[in-house]
Amino acid sequence: MKYYITTPIYYVNDLPHLGHAYTTVAADILARWHRLIGDDVYFLTGTDEHGAKIAQAAKNSNRTPKELCDQVSGEFKNAWKSLNITNDSFIRTTDLNHEKTVGIFLKHLFDKKMVYKKKYEGLYCVPCEKFLSKTDLDENLCCPDHRQKPVEHSEENYFFCLSKFRDELLEMLSNENHPKHIAVFPLTRRNETIGKLKLGLEDISISRAALEWGIPLPFDKEQTVYVWVDALLNYLSGIGFGTDEEKFKKYWPANVQLMAKDILWFHSVIWPAMILALELPLPKKLFAHGFFTINNEKMSKTLGNVIKPGELIEKFGVDATRYLLVSLFPFGSDGDISWQALTERYNTDLANNLGNLVSRTLTMVEKYCNGIIPKYTPSGGMEEIINIAEFNEYLENLQFHYAIEVIQKHITSANQFIQNNAPWEMAKKNDPQLPGVLWYLVESIKTAAVALYPFMPQISINIWEQIGENENIENSAKEFFNGIRISGPKPGNATKKAGNLFPRKDKLLKG
Ligand code: ME8
Ligand code: MG
Repeated sequence: MKYYITTPIYYVNDLPHLGHAYTTVAADILARWHRLIGDDVYFLTGTDEHGAKIAQAAKNSNRTPKELCDQVSGEFKNAWKSLNITNDSFIRTTDLNHEKTVGIFLKHLFDKKMVYKKKYEGLYCVPCEKFLSKTDLDENLCCPDHRQKPVEHSEENYFFCLSKFRDELLEMLSNENHPKHIAVFPLTRRNETIGKLKLGLEDISISRAALEWGIPLPFDKEQTVYVWVDALLNYLSGIGFGTDEEKFKKYWPANVQLMAKDILWFHSVIWPAMILALELPLPKKLFAHGFFTINNEKMSKTLGNVIKPGELIEKFGVDATRYLLVSLFPFGSDGDISWQALTERYNTDLANNLGNLVSRTLTMVEKYCNGIIPKYTPSGGMEEIINIAEFNEYLENLQFHYAIEVIQKHITSANQFIQNNAPWEMAKKNDPQLPGVLWYLVESIKTAAVALYPFMPQISINIWEQIGENENIENSAKEFFNGIRISGPKPGNATKKAGNLFPRKDKLLKG
């Protein structure tokens, strides 16, 4: 089946940080897993490059907006390369194809009489790129997310008749049997959206008169498109809407769209209304995960408490960074990040549990079997721990931390198996069961390597080589995730113990 997955496109006023990496790594794990279960995956990410915020950032750094966009979108591409992200394409809202799609959408609204002109006054938060009402403001009359005063805005704009879609949106979001149902997760956030929708829905301004850095309206070149309308359309232009109909037909609608809770309203209300206006099928699932906070504050450039993905990679390595991002707390919940919590989790799960299992086992295979996988003796084996149906269900539901828990349990029980059998005692007694015990241990490592493959691809390959596998790990992982029992380690293969996979880290130091 086809599987179309998206992340938000990130603003280029900000360098990539851990929050962006969180969404993108999660999407990558899903994309990799879907490819392994046999889906035809299209994974889209990119950068959001128009609007007042970007124009301002460019001005502050004495560059043209285009110069800023080229540089920072390059930084995002590099960040994703360094995290081994397998996106199929990277969209920029300054791409010509994208601008064409935006033009088609607006012309459609205009032709269908879904836009009208109106004088508008309001309070605009530039970092949010949205209008705030007085009740949204904090006690200092600032945006509560950015601690910044919104600017007064007064001009004549074009409006989109969003209010017209309210009843249909309410039905679609609440009723699972509605033919256009969009599943929004977590349910608490879905309910917040529904609650807010019930209070009412107003038409929104979709153009700016005084902002040059944007796409001109096809029916009024004096105005540019509101950046959020421009940005949301990336999910269509990214798969060829208006430019590559074959590709578009193949992948639309999106199977899952990821984001954090900050932008769920745009994705669960404004975006579906835009799609309804186009009379296209609706996305199947939206998932709004929580925020990483640093000392309980949102991580953002505006607040100046940013951690860059590179800092984590430097300390823990690429794969451990991917692993740590999705294992600290449930996808959907907020969580506070500290170097201490990251280091503790690294030491517990990776250095002590997985790393130890691999290194102890391979040391024993070297010592007691000359580094050759011994013959399998069919008795006294380990119980099968990973229930693949359950594991797949966790991934299907984006419950990464549960999936990881299943793998960790498997690894723990293998370490326990070492303790229970004490192979070093068996060796002293020349116990004929010793080769069998070691074979089972290598088998459990093999299983762990394939199960971890979507999360830590390079580490999995590394382990695979250490245990002397010469088959393609990709094929074994495909079998495994499709519920086919993979073959055990082949007696006679030579193991290749390499250095420490996960050197222990000092708890308190950052680097
Ligand atoms: O909103 N914790 O872009 P953006 C978790 N351009 N996730 C975080 C995070 C944090 N502290 N900070 C950022 C925009 N994210 C628009 C989107 S889409 C059509 C347009 C992640 O650069 C999370 O996915 O502000 C969040 O939704 C996104 O980055 C916001 O990125
Ligand atoms: Mg933001």
